[in-house]
Amino acid sequence: MILYFSGTGNSLYAAKKLAEMTGDTAVPMTAIRGQCRRIQDRIIGFVFPVYFGELPDPVRDFIAQVQFCKSTYFYGIATCGSSPGRALRTMDHILRRQHCTLSYGAVLPMIANSTIASRRHIHYDVNRLDHADEVISEAASKIRGQIEDKAALRSSFSAALMNIGMIRRAGERWLTPSVDADRCMACGLCARICPVSNIICTAKGAVIGSHCSYCLACVHWCPYQAVTVHGKQVLAEDQYHHPDVTAEDMTRR
Ligand SMILES: Cc1cc2nc3c(=O)[nH]c(=O)nc-3n(C[C@H](O)[C@H](O)[C@H](O)COP(=O)(O)O)c2cc1C
Repeated sequence: MILYFSGTGNSLYAAKKLAEMTGDTAVPMTAIRGQCRRIQDRIIGFVFPVYFGELPDPVRDFIAQVQFCKSTYFYGIATCGSSPGRALRTMDHILRRQHCTLSYGAVLPMIANSTIASRRHIHYDVNRLDHADEVISEAASKIRGQIEDKAALRSSFSAALMNIGMIRRAGERWLTPSVDADRCMACGLCARICPVSNIICTAKGAVIGSHCSYCLACVHWCPYQAVTVHGKQVLAEDQYHHPDVTAEDMTRR
């Protein structure tokens, strides 16, 4: 089973591609969160984005709350802009609390969806995605052979720095979405797409709740650019989602 978490489709794309190449099934973590206390399989993979050099909170909580089996071969694929920080190492630590271990980890640099908070007229270099299939194919061959390779689980000093409470909180403030009531058409897409169900859509428009995971799905997918990030209005040309992933793919749970 391949369990994924995704805001803008990079991790969803990687999970689906990996499923094709390994003959496995990709399932969004959010679809089974709270419903599954125990997951048993021969091979379990986690595909997720790196946030602030770490695991996204929903991924961390999911792994900590589900019971796994010691004999499973676990692997993790961290999609990111450039630097995976210590996300894979943290994943291994959490699994170890259950006497399990991450046998293999891979880093998959794609497009940094967080750039939207700091820049305008970004022109994402989507050519970078061409390399992704190669990395996924290499990962698939290791996974099929149940190879142990922990080289990507190493952390760096800069990754540790990024997660110091104050720096992390500043990052979260910088990436906090809010709704511009004048632009919101109450179409409800953000509510359907939010992977942690933190948005409701009323007749007057979308309302963002208090347990945001900072995935930026609402910012990037809104057809009316009505979701701002730290109060800054985003441009349609700066919205990003993986080119092979549709809003329907994201909302299918
Ligand atoms: C809150 C947040 C923090 C991020 N932190 C990092 C980071 O520390 N290092 C990095 O290389 N990319 C970082 N990114 C970029 C994402 O990891 C990257 O775009 C990822 O592939 C998005 O996956 P998704 O499309 O499945 O949501 C961050 C993105 C967000 C939204």
